Amino acid sequence: MDQYAVFGHPIAHSQSPFIHQTFARQTGQSLEYRAILAPLGGFAETVHRFRAEGGQGGNVTLPFKEEAFALCDELTERARLAGAVNTLHWQSDGRLLGDNTDGAGMVSDLLQHGAAIEGKRVLIVGAGGAVRGVLEPVLACGPSEVVIANRTESKATVLAGDFSALGNIRGVGLDGIDGRFDLIINGTSASLSGELPPLPDGCLISGGITYDMAYGTKATPFQLWGEKQGGRINLSGLGMLVNQAAESFERWRGVRPETGPVKAALMARMEAKQ
Ligand code: ATR
Repeated sequence: MDQYAVFGHPIAHSQSPFIHQTFARQTGQSLEYRAILAPLGGFAETVHRFRAEGGQGGNVTLPFKEEAFALCDELTERARLAGAVNTLHWQSDGRLLGDNTDGAGMVSDLLQHGAAIEGKRVLIVGAGGAVRGVLEPVLACGPSEVVIANRTESKATVLAGDFSALGNIRGVGLDGIDGRFDLIINGTSASLSGELPPLPDGCLISGGITYDMAYGTKATPFQLWGEKQGGRINLSGLGMLVNQAAESFERWRGVRPETGPVKAALMARMEAKQ
């Protein structure tokens, strides 16, 4: 059977095996997908061993996305711009192709909820690797403006500068957020520790949309903030997780799984495990 895996450290918490096994059943594809704990400092060796044992492709999670980027023989344009790889795919000539499906996964999730980006004013909070990973797909949708706001302002301005050829984008500090936005995306790691980046009241248009790249069984502090600000749709990153997996699966298998039922199944599974 064709072999796939997700590499990370830690990895026990990963939902990727469940998601991909569910996709495989749904699409009638015969494959195995498992989680592999790569030792810190041993990522490349672990991936090479997996390939030698017949691996066809894989996913990469924390903290190895930059190492995966360096390991690949070829990169998609979005992976090159992200500076990180979450999808590995060995080509027929044996070369390793690296892709980054995180941003496309978030954009698909937004579109599935009827949230357009084209022509909209978008605020992205945070300027780390997670935000870098989604900028190309967001800018490719044609927003009227993207503002990156970060606690450390210099990181936001540098990041915006790196993407300035792709659209109307600028970086500010959190105190430089001005006007109202149609869509506000939280790409900070604040939700992971139950915190909320300090954002000014009224920076979301009435009936606007908020998106937290983090997820859990309960609404994140940022989702609750979105509700309080009158957001029409306030999403967590669970749909991003399932959709980035669907993009990887399609690259490997040539078929696009339906993500709706898998999002519901994943939420039920997470709730049952609590
Ligand atoms: P990741 O790879 O998940 O993006 P990262 O590169 O460490 O992680 O970036 C974390 C981001 O969350 C940064 O933008 C960070 O702001 P700084 O650049 O000022 O450190 C942001 N962040 C983390 N905790 C935060 C908090 N409590 N409030 C606001 N921003 C926070």
